[in-house]
Amino acid sequence: MSGAIVLVIGGGGREHALALGLATSPSVSEVHVAPGNAGTASMATNHALPDSDVEGLVELAEKLDCDLVVVGPEGPLVAGIADMLRTKDIPCFGPHSAGAELEGSKLHAKQVMQQNGVPTAGVQIIDDVTQIEAALDRFQPPWVVKRDVLAGGKGVTVTDERDIARDALSSAIASDSFVLLEEFLAGEEASMLVLLDESGWVALPASQDHKRVGEGDTGPNTGGMGAYAPAPVVTDAVRDKVFERIVEPMHGWLSAQETPYRGCLYVGLMIDEDDDPYVVEYNVRFGDPETQVTIPLISSDLYQLLLAVAEGRVADTTPEFSDSHALTVVLASQGYPGPPRTGLPISLASEVLVDAGSSALVHHAGTGHDEQGRLVASGGRVLASTGIGSSLEEARDAAYDLLAGIELEGSHYRRDIGHRAL
Ligand code: AMP
Ligand code: GLY
Repeated sequence: MSGAIVLVIGGGGREHALALGLATSPSVSEVHVAPGNAGTASMATNHALPDSDVEGLVELAEKLDCDLVVVGPEGPLVAGIADMLRTKDIPCFGPHSAGAELEGSKLHAKQVMQQNGVPTAGVQIIDDVTQIEAALDRFQPPWVVKRDVLAGGKGVTVTDERDIARDALSSAIASDSFVLLEEFLAGEEASMLVLLDESGWVALPASQDHKRVGEGDTGPNTGGMGAYAPAPVVTDAVRDKVFERIVEPMHGWLSAQETPYRGCLYVGLMIDEDDDPYVVEYNVRFGDPETQVTIPLISSDLYQLLLAVAEGRVADTTPEFSDSHALTVVLASQGYPGPPRTGLPISLASEVLVDAGSSALVHHAGTGHDEQGRLVASGGRVLASTGIGSSLEEARDAAYDLLAGIELEGSHYRRDIGHRAL
């Protein structure tokens, strides 16, 4: 019997991690990635289609006769790729466009949370600049201003400065006609990735991202500068509360919708000092870089798990997890999270490191080849060095050891990934 053909959509570190996980499945014979990066090019077949070309991607999936399409980023999901694949009977891991609105619209997500009694920050919708001063008085600093647009984590301003909050509010009203001003939640953040369909759900080991660009969690927000899993802030007691107060009600609501949600629900959590969890955001996909530290902890067959979700039968699966720890450090181009300097060559002493009891690998993100075939940086987050070990310290040491052999002029990374747990 010939093996399964899988197409992974996207070109970041998350997609490299997914492609690597799928390639280890004994059921899989071909992994394709669109558009992929230099890392996926070395272990799968890349197709030069941007993730915005939804029709082209559906055609590609048909042409390849795919058994499963796994969608990495939110853009194609919001644009309806899952809806289109389902009309062609191609199993798709990733929700339909209505489900993707949980990420596409922060206002919609907030309304769903409120309707279902899911704990989250209070919010005020502001659609007129004359309401701004009273709203700022009512909420007190730090202020949390959220635009209702897909902005890759960059549509949120958290600030103690009234002038900055006022500017963020008024420019959002000018461009989008309204904006959300949210109550500030204090505590520690964690990410819970839940694989969910109408039959049930499976929570993956909780992880923690590092969203700020600078060490000690300073500077502007980024897509994520590093992550580790499991995150000890999610104790068994916290986990139970997340399941009971957040995942169960969301599963109930999603299962009652006309078209079932089949994919990953990324629950961005704030855990307060009483160990009570609140939802900061939902994403409708795997996290990046959370995926790079989560996939290596799944010890059972990833393809069978994702296929089961795409076919609405996750309740029949019994995924297994290893008791290892994983930690990933993102190497970013000069300038990131502002406009990155790209096109510079990357020198890699090695892509893997194996030590007694621990190992590390490079997850490529913004990498490609130039005309001379040299490995070059092509984006803001260039690659991630991911360590796996029997303790978090071992995982961290392996990740930083591998990273020490990587050179990219002007690049930067955080040296304190995992600091809250270590
Ligand atoms: P979001 O895109 O909604 O995840 O927001 C980006 C980041 O802003 C989050 O990861 C948090 O670090 C921060 N943030 C968002 N909402 C809040 C909130 N209500 N209170 C505190 N921090 C927040
Ligand atoms: N690491 C944050 C995200 O994937 O949205």
